[in-house]
Amino acid sequence: MSTNKFVTFEIFRYDPEKDKEPYYQTYKVEIRRSGMLLLEGLNQVKWELDPTLSFRRSCREGVCGSDGLNVNGVNMLSCMTKIEDLGTDHIVIQPLPGMKVIRDLVTDVDDFFQKFITVKPYLIRKSPAPDKEFYQSPEDRKLLDGLYECILCGCCSSSCPSYWADEKYLGPNAFLRAYRYLIDSRDEGAEDRLPILNDKHGVWRCHTIYNCVEACPKQLNPTKAIVGIRRMLLERGY
Ligand code: FES
Repeated sequence: MSTNKFVTFEIFRYDPEKDKEPYYQTYKVEIRRSGMLLLEGLNQVKWELDPTLSFRRSCREGVCGSDGLNVNGVNMLSCMTKIEDLGTDHIVIQPLPGMKVIRDLVTDVDDFFQKFITVKPYLIRKSPAPDKEFYQSPEDRKLLDGLYECILCGCCSSSCPSYWADEKYLGPNAFLRAYRYLIDSRDEGAEDRLPILNDKHGVWRCHTIYNCVEACPKQLNPTKAIVGIRRMLLERGY
């Protein structure tokens, strides 16, 4: 059923196999229900107006982290963004900044994930495994709240000027993920991770701009994690 309510999507387009330069293409998107999501609008473009448009999505529930985009200058997930909440009927949609474009809104995330892997994002144990299980008290478990929820969407790192300027900078996402394990009472890998984080492309390169905090669609706080890592480094005499 047609509602005759429309917004304009102005979308970044680039196919390196045929375009010399990126360009922007506009589409009229119909608002078909109250609370319609940006992802629904992109699907409408793809399925009804222009099947050549490329973008990533999978879960449509804010879980997989595949649909991070820059919308009217702000990084966000298309599946968690209501079009009406953008407060305008002209919506400019671009790939996440600071990442190489593969095609249209699809970016190359290899470097982002490589940085994530670099900080050893898993429990490291040195002492023998207990007979039954690794006990963690409710208080220690609570310390992981605000860290474990990260879905690796890249909105934080790609909003960070240091991440754009220094291609080796690990970035807020890697720091948040590193801190999630550093403060886990079951982990014994601090001495494996801290030298990596103390590198000139590590936590000291953060200028505390807070873009990462504003960009995170899960309301996590990578800057707080960076401060925690810095404190650990100082306490341990790095
Ligand atoms: Fe999975 Fe948005 S589609 S987080």
